[in-house]
Amino acid sequence: MEFHVITLFPEMFESPFRGGMIGRAVEQGLIQLRVHPLRPFGLGSYRQVDDAPYGGGSGMVMRPEPLAAAIDDVTGQHPGLWKVLMTPQGEVFGHALARELLAKPRGLLLVAGRYEGIDERVRSLFDQEISIGDYVLSGGELPAMVVIEAVGRLIPGVLGNPDSLTEESFAAGTLEYPQYTRPEEFRGMRVPEVLLSGDHGKVREWRRAEAEKRTALRRPDLARKSSRG
Ligand code: ADE
Repeated sequence: MEFHVITLFPEMFESPFRGGMIGRAVEQGLIQLRVHPLRPFGLGSYRQVDDAPYGGGSGMVMRPEPLAAAIDDVTGQHPGLWKVLMTPQGEVFGHALARELLAKPRGLLLVAGRYEGIDERVRSLFDQEISIGDYVLSGGELPAMVVIEAVGRLIPGVLGNPDSLTEESFAAGTLEYPQYTRPEEFRGMRVPEVLLSGDHGKVREWRRAEAEKRTALRRPDLARKSSRG
């Protein structure tokens, strides 16, 4: 799957995706990640990308021309990309939206905004606006990385063990069950007997019940959603 990013800070994308799961998927050709710097599309000899807001007020606003030129350039070379603006004003990201993005046949173009905002007139160039939560970051770079990681790990073959996907939180509509590894006793706390029993049916049942209990306690909103089916 192709992921393209337009950003003023392309170097931010280097180390997070060098190693680890996404880095491996890039090496294996399961993911193509292209980071396109916005600065060369800036105006004048200073390559200006922002300006003061009409009507006054604090902060700077991203001008429409550099963003539009960068989007045209990338989509000209890679037609059909699903164009997403990362903004706190967008649709809130979650597992269901990650699944929808995974299904975009030509891949994604994620645009990371900066400064106080972008000129309203570029909004119409996007297919979708996505927020990663109700808080404001200083740019869309980290949100774009969150989307790439969350969607990337759903691509078949990216995770070593595909079972971990279906067992995970949110795929099942519940939080994950409690996990244990060695030792059998740690600071007086023992691993639940059922996990040592070797009875796979009982283990499955215990995990399901624990996951439901935890979801009802910590995320009643999710519990309601999954009981509605
Ligand atoms: N840019 C700044 N804050 C953001 C957020 N919460 N989600 C997406 N993009 C953003």
